This record gives sequence, structure tokens and C-alpha cells, in this order.
Amino acid sequence: MWGGRFAEGPSAIMREINASIGFDKRLWRHDIEASRVHIAMLAAQGIVDQADADAIEEGLDKIADEYETGGVPEDAALEDIHMHVEARLAELIGPAAGRLRTARSRNDQVATDFRLWVRDAIDVAEQGLAALQRALVARAEEQAETVMPGFTHLQSAQPVTLGHHLMAYYEMLRRDRSRFADARARMNECPLGSAALAGTGFPVDREAVALALDFDRPTANSLDAVSDRDFALDYLMAASQCALHLSRLAEELVLWASQPFGFVKLSDSFSTGSSIMPQKRNPDAAELVRGHSGRIIGALTALSVTMKGLPLAYSKDMQDDKEPVFEAHDLLSLSLAAMAGMIETVSFDAARMRAAAETGHATATDLADWLVREAEVPFREAHHITGRAVRLADERGVPLWELPLDALQSIDARIGEGVFAVLSPDASVKSRKSFGGTAPGQVRKRIEAAKKVLGIET
Ligand code: ARG
Repeated sequence: MWGGRFAEGPSAIMREINASIGFDKRLWRHDIEASRVHIAMLAAQGIVDQADADAIEEGLDKIADEYETGGVPEDAALEDIHMHVEARLAELIGPAAGRLRTARSRNDQVATDFRLWVRDAIDVAEQGLAALQRALVARAEEQAETVMPGFTHLQSAQPVTLGHHLMAYYEMLRRDRSRFADARARMNECPLGSAALAGTGFPVDREAVALALDFDRPTANSLDAVSDRDFALDYLMAASQCALHLSRLAEELVLWASQPFGFVKLSDSFSTGSSIMPQKRNPDAAELVRGHSGRIIGALTALSVTMKGLPLAYSKDMQDDKEPVFEAHDLLSLSLAAMAGMIETVSFDAARMRAAAETGHATATDLADWLVREAEVPFREAHHITGRAVRLADERGVPLWELPLDALQSIDARIGEGVFAVLSPDASVKSRKSFGGTAPGQVRKRIEAAKKVLGIET
């Protein structure tokens, strides 16, 4: 393809380090799509004969069929997907194939193909996120009243509802979706026509090409367009943050499935056994989602470091942009699907959760709040009184709300009968009606809003 200038061919090692076909063949569909649009524009502009353009389009259709049904033989000497398609086209239609290269370089070509690929990857991530959100919302609705301990420092802090806890992840994923949507909107400009780096002298119609490929507009600076990989980094940043959220949920499933917690039982379909310990039921899928997040964040680091310090415009380093993105995409898609499967099929042990919510005096704050509200005690003093009540309950080995009134009154005479209405975990969660709070009524409101957004029938 560039042999004219050289007396000798590249060494085998040069070929090997240069070749990207092993991985960039994943771009074939987008490469052919962009070529079809490019050749149609060249013909419409009178830059290439209609007859040649027709032959090229026919050839491209044939190559698409070949890729669809098993691929095109690979040859490291042809470096990448762009040259494989072009060489195959020449085999099929002869020298007219060379006209496809008019007003185009592999630099604007790969920038375009890869954007198209990442744009599709964003759409796939969006669907995976929506599916997981639907699973979370369905389970949250079913568990809107289920009481469990809420933690800070992984110490029982205040009772919450399981529905509220699950909906916390709905919110994280909602932000993830908006990050992917932002990335998509920002990247949706077409580099084709930037050519090698400086633009082209041919009278191309960049606007028409951009619109035919569903871009919003052509990119505005040819140097930037061929060397910009922000779109891939934006994708990886959104993917990393999403993976980080999945990893937190995965960690909770692993913890909750452990015997000391016993809050959940993962379904058989998302558990594995041990080859040596017959009793084992391991949360491998959750652990792998947690593990994969490391590799997805690694992909972001890899591409960030690759891009750092590259002078304008294209440098071959940028060929290394694809593998991290492909890997992150594959891992994220699988993680989203596995997480949705786990959430849909996990069984919750409401009795264990309630029992845990009843230990650790998780309603101590409710006693302090009651003193502030009903007896006008300053919060600091209420905190101190409550601390003494907790100590007394511990001494007697009972939960706070099982201390008799006279025992509470021996600590502070201002405590009255009404306090029992707030001391049980159920009363505690019901009282937390502030917007965004854990009260079942509040959680249900949020669930209704989420169902509307997700298009779930109510
Ligand atoms: N395979 C190359 C890549 O992915 C295509 C661009 C090659 N451009 C060049 N000037 N050698 O980066």
C-alpha cells in the first residue's frame, strides 16, 4: 500500500509490531459503512465516476457478506482492517478500488470508524444499564417495607428499608446513563474529510457525509479530528464510574451472602459450588463483577497514558486506543448482564435483616430526636441521655425499645410513654419521611417516578 518509496520490505518483527488486524477487525462493519457513505459522496460531487462508485459499492456489499459469514483471510502485511477491506476490494473489482482512497486517509478513516464503534458501544451500555435499573426497581418495589440495618463504617447505624437501599443503586445508574449520554452527544461529530491531517483539496461535502452517518456535524479542525481520542476516553470514564458502582453492589452481595450476614441467597443460576467443600455456594459472578471493575478502570488508565504527551496530529501510538476500549466494553456488558441476573433472582431473607436491624440499638438516634422534639432537650444533652439508655439496655441484654418506661425515666424523667412509638425499627423507618428518606412512602414515590422514566407499567 505504501511500497513505492521502499526498496526492501519490512522485517517480520516490523510487520508484527505494526499489525492491528488481530483486534481492529472488530471495526469491519463501521469501516464498510463509512466507506459506502464516502464513495457515494465522491460520486455525488463528481470526484469519482458513478460507474466506479457503483462497482465499489457492490464490492463493499460483497465484503460485508464475507465478514458476516466468517471473515476475510488475514495478512499481517496488510496491517489493519482498512487495508484488508481495500485489498479485498481490489481483488474483487480491480484497480477502480483505489479510487475509494480519494480525499481520505486512514487517519480520518480510523477516527471515524472508531467513533461509530464507540457510539454503538454507548448504546449497548445504555440498554444494559436500563435493564439493570428495571431489575432494581422491581425488587425495590417488592421490598419497600422490608426493614434492614443501615450502615455507616459497616456498623449498624439506623434502620432503613431494603427498597431504599436498592434504589440507591438505581440513582447511581441513572447518573451513569447520563454520563454515557453526555459522551455520546459530545462525540457525535464526523472526522471524515480531515484526511491525513490538513484537510483535502478535493471538493468534498463533509456535511452530507456527517449526516449520512448520523453524526450531528463534521468536526471543525482537521488536526484535532485525526488525533482526538477524547470520545474513547469519555466512554472509558463513564464505563469506569459505572463499573465502580457495579463493584460496590457486587461487594454488598458478597457480604450479604456470607454466613455471618445471611441477608441473601443467590440463586443457583448465579452461584457456583466448590470442587472440594460440598457445602459451598460461592458468589463467583459478584466477585467477578467486582474484579472486572479493576480491569475496566485499568483500560481508562492505559488509554489516558497512551494519549498523554502525543504531539499533533496522528501518531501510531494511537493504534493502541482500541484494545482497552474493546476490553472495557466486553467486560462492562457482561458485568451489567450478570448483575441484572443476580438482582432478578436473588432471594432476600427479611427475617435475618430484621433481626440484624434489631441489634446494635439502631434506633438510638430516634430516642435522642424524640427528646429534642417532645421534651425540648438540646440535641447534645439528648445524645448523652440516650447514650446512658443504650448502656443500660446493654447491661440488661435487651434492645433499647424493650427497656421498661420506669427504667428509661430513671435516666431522665422527661422520657414519656410516647417514646415507644418511635423506638422500634418499623417506627423509625416510617418516621424518616423527609424527601429522599427511607420511609416506605417516600421510597414508593421514588419507585413510581423511576417506573415512569423506565417505561414500566404501573
Ligand atoms: N491502524 C491504524 C490505527 O488504528 C490506522 C491509521 C494508520 N495511519 C497511519 N498513518 N499509519 O491507528
